[in-house]
Parts: sequence; structure tokens; C-alpha cells
Amino acid sequence: MSSSPAPGPEFGNPRLDILIPSDRLQARVREMGAAIARDYAGRTPELICVLKGAVVFMSDLMRAIDLPLGIDFIAVSSYAKGKNSTGEVKILKDLDEPLQGRDIILVEDILDTGLTLNYLVNSFRARGATSIRIAALLNKPDRRKVDVRPDYVGFDIPDEFVVGYGLDFGERYRNLPFIAVVR
Ligand code: IMP
Ligand code: MG
Repeated sequence: MSSSPAPGPEFGNPRLDILIPSDRLQARVREMGAAIARDYAGRTPELICVLKGAVVFMSDLMRAIDLPLGIDFIAVSSYAKGKNSTGEVKILKDLDEPLQGRDIILVEDILDTGLTLNYLVNSFRARGATSIRIAALLNKPDRRKVDVRPDYVGFDIPDEFVVGYGLDFGERYRNLPFIAVVR
């Protein structure tokens, strides 16, 4: 927690401007799940959640994919603290399952500079995954530093720092049921 918030409710915090309300998130995630189920029919994909930010998206997305599938988790840090990227990717918690021969779907909260996913895609390819696709809830196309293209995108958003639905600012706001900009 970067600051000590006053105790009390959070969802109606007047500093939050709602960018994507809960019902739009839910509807879009269901569409993404249906598209993945169509594309992977007859296969058993492995969904890899990039902790912590993608955990809320992952839990909704996996329940929208009507296929047998596996899940795994990896934790990386690309942001030292606050809003600035260090450009460095560090694995804080590695996968539990081998990738050899698997059809991987990398589940990410937001594709920003692309540094994190670029690193993960290359590393997973080297570990022998059969295929690797990216499902990102949010995409900031204007911020890209390396050429990474998401296969499934929830929403393209402008270059603003957003929180909620898993995304944090200083570990706060992950529990918001909507995506918001902090003023
Ligand atoms: P990238 O490596 O620059 O693409 O960074 C991706 C990661 O940066 C995401 O998984 C988030 O953890 C973090 N990030 C990027 N933009 C935002 C934002 O607007 N709000 C919260 N976290 C963000
Ligand atoms: Mg993240």
C-alpha cells in the first residue's frame, strides 16, 4: 500500500473515474472466452495467468471457455514501483507445469510497452511450447516499445494509467469491479 487510505468503502471513491463499467467487462470477457473456445476446439489449451494483475480477468475468462483446459501461474515484475517501467523482467514465481507440447494462452491484464509479454513469449517458446497466443484484457497500442501483438484483446484504451479488475497502483484498487482512471 503506497499510502494509508482512510477506512471505509472504496468502490465509490470520488478520485476514481470509471472507464469501463463492470457489465461491459463481463460481456466482453464472455465474448473472448467464446472466441477462444471456437479457435481451440478439439484441443486442451493451458491458460497461464500473469500474476497478480491478471488474476481477476483469468478467473472470469476461464469460466467463459467451454473446453477442457489447464491453468498455471507465473509472477513477474516489470515495474519497479508506481508508474514507471524499468524495462527489466524478473521471474518472481515460475510455472508449476512443463510447457513441452502444450498450446499456451498467456493471460495478461494489460499490454503496455510489451516488454513483459515479449520476454515471456520468447522464454516459453524456448521451453518447447507447441503454440503461444496472448489474451490481454486491455491494450495501450500507443505505448508499445517492442512488437508484440495480442491475439485476443478486450479493449484498446488511451495512454492513461488505469486501475481495477486486478490492476493496481501501489497494490491498491485490484478489487474494484470496474476499470478506472485515478485522478
Ligand atoms: P509492459 O511490460 O510495459 O507491457 O507492462 C505490462 C505490465 O505493466 C502490466 O502487466 C501491469 O502490471 C503494468 N501496467 C501497465 N500499464 C498499467 C496501468 O495502466 N495500470 C496498472 N498497471 C499497468
Ligand atoms: Mg501485470
